Amino acid sequence: MRWPREVRRSRWKGSLGAVRSRLPLVVVALGMGGGVALLGILAGWSIPVVVVAALLALALGAVLGQMLWWVRVTTGRLARLEHFVNHRLEGLKNDTSRRDDAMGKNIVEIRGKVGKIDNELTFPRSTYRLALRELAQGQSAERRENRVQYQQKLDDQVALLESFMQLQRLVPMTLPMPRPGTWAASEDLLLWLAGYVLEHRPRLVVDLGSGQSSVWMAGAMRQAGYDGRVIGVDHEEQYAQATELLSQRQGVTPWLTVIHAPLIEESIGGRTVQWYDASALSAITDVDLLCVDGPPAQGAEQARWPALPFFRDRMAQGGRVILDDMIRADEQQIAQDWSGRFPGMTSQTLEFEKGALVFTLP
Ligand SMILES: C[S@@+](CC[C@H](N)C(=O)[O-])C[C@H]1O[C@@H](n2cnc3c(N)ncnc32)[C@H](O)[C@@H]1O
Repeated sequence: MRWPREVRRSRWKGSLGAVRSRLPLVVVALGMGGGVALLGILAGWSIPVVVVAALLALALGAVLGQMLWWVRVTTGRLARLEHFVNHRLEGLKNDTSRRDDAMGKNIVEIRGKVGKIDNELTFPRSTYRLALRELAQGQSAERRENRVQYQQKLDDQVALLESFMQLQRLVPMTLPMPRPGTWAASEDLLLWLAGYVLEHRPRLVVDLGSGQSSVWMAGAMRQAGYDGRVIGVDHEEQYAQATELLSQRQGVTPWLTVIHAPLIEESIGGRTVQWYDASALSAITDVDLLCVDGPPAQGAEQARWPALPFFRDRMAQGGRVILDDMIRADEQQIAQDWSGRFPGMTSQTLEFEKGALVFTLP
């Protein structure tokens, strides 16, 4: 049998131990050999018999001693083996519990990491879901808002078209008219102006900022068949000429006079302003309707403010002043200033595309 190294004695320990451990063997062999020889002599055996018997007893003692030695060595080895195995088992137990501890720690650490990852995955998922829902809600609100706006725009365009159809029916023209809008007054204002002329038959209308409005009002006078007059005022010669040309083509010159009055610096109502050359307008009195659609507001602050301060004393009793482009802040300030400056006027808001306000003088 091959014993493990830890069970076998070291070489040094083994040789010393071997001498010590074999002593009983020698003692037993010698004791048995000597004992048998002594017995033989006492029994009166012959010398050769005593020698043979003593040698046999010695050999038997050696065998017995050797067996005793084996028993002793094997017992020691078994004890050491047991100790070694126990020691190994203890070590293995310690190793296992150390590994268990380490593994337990790892498991806790891994669980923590997994939990963190799970949180990180769950949190953004819910955040994205929320963001997507908000985006979708925002988009549908925006779509709804756009639809409402488009619908509103469509309604406005239909209303303008209806105004233009009415205008054409009420004021027939002999030739095509340019499209209203942009620089020209909108269809709703043109219809109101033509309707006012047809209904109230103003004798004198002043149109600040000449153009289609001047021609439509002159056409309304022709249609109504009375002796009225529109004075279209323009600071730009080219636009004054364009209005004059349109007036001739439509055959309304008996009802329309176009005046070119350049803008110059003047003192009106306590302010120094750029206004139509007053000398070109000095002959105008008893205005029944003043339409304020010029000069252009572009680049000048409250460019149309001088209109009423300049024309107030040139207006007929109960005359009307219509201020276009009331959707602009500038025009709203002008209207406010006029209301405070000229008490006794009443005003009426017209919900037109560009907004308008009608003042009625006392
Ligand atoms: C608002 S526009 C007057 C429009 C006029 N009441 C009408 O209904 O046709 C005011 C001034 O702008 C100038 N104007 C007219 N058409 C223009 C154009 N296409 N480009 C630049 N200025 C223009 C003219 O001098 C006009 O007097």
